[in-house]
Amino acid sequence: MSRGETFLAAEVTPARIRFEDVSLTLEDRVVFDGLSVEMDVSRTGLVGRNGAGKSQFLRLVSGLVTPDSGTVTVNGFDPAKNRKRATREIGFVFQNPEHGLLFPTVIEELTFGLKAHGMGKREADARAREILQNFGVPGWDERLVHSLSQGQKHLLCLMVATAPEPGLLLLDEAFAGLDLPTETSLHRMLARLPVAQIAANHDLASLARNDRLVWLDAGAVRAEGAPDEILTAYRAEMEGRILSPDAL
Ligand SMILES: Nc1ncnc2c1ncn2[C@@H]1O[C@H](COP(=O)(O)OP(=O)(O)O)[C@@H](O)[C@H]1O
Ligand SMILES: [Mg+2]
Repeated sequence: MSRGETFLAAEVTPARIRFEDVSLTLEDRVVFDGLSVEMDVSRTGLVGRNGAGKSQFLRLVSGLVTPDSGTVTVNGFDPAKNRKRATREIGFVFQNPEHGLLFPTVIEELTFGLKAHGMGKREADARAREILQNFGVPGWDERLVHSLSQGQKHLLCLMVATAPEPGLLLLDEAFAGLDLPTETSLHRMLARLPVAQIAANHDLASLARNDRLVWLDAGAVRAEGAPDEILTAYRAEMEGRILSPDAL
């Protein structure tokens, strides 16, 4: 499959994200200053320069961060105030899989979150095995997490994040730094998941696979729309820019 080609994507139920006059300052740094944006997310990509606010935007959507003022809602609920609901309904995949993996074996990694959401041990175990089966790795249950390859660890993080069957999956540069076949394969698995997704990414080919892009620039939405249109505008502005060492 060539790069940039759209994968056959599963149908998803869109998630409604709403930011109303959201401000966030971190250590004297104003990240968002009255950001208001509303979007129905199926497969949305977040594009923007380093420091534009993509990660903090995702953290606000997940409820990991509370805004200083204003409100964030996901399908009508406030994810920072309803932590339990948020951890069940919103999955998060980080760039570094080591940050999300805590247990010695794959099965423990998968069942932990399920049990935390109230599943009994047996049910969680059965569900974990079903997930492994669905992802085509039924023999991974007793595999030691530290023995997995980097790409396999990323896949495990994806399985862990989607195990509680969230309605929204957030990915922050989730598959950055992997070799091309690994990255492409993971994106293909991602496309098959019937879950609404927002993915921050620097890779233009991966961004092009979304159905919509939001361009963040210095904590504001610079533009949003069809991937072709946004990427053309983004490239036109970024390419040929030579930054001074102070601006890197
Ligand atoms: N923990 C933090 N403390 C202080 N400033 C931060 C912190 N995290 C992010 N920032 C600042 O917030 C802004 C947005 O950062 P971030 O969301 O990480 O951008 P992106 O993911 O688009 O690269 C940047 O100016 C960054 O320096
Ligand atoms: Mg980031």
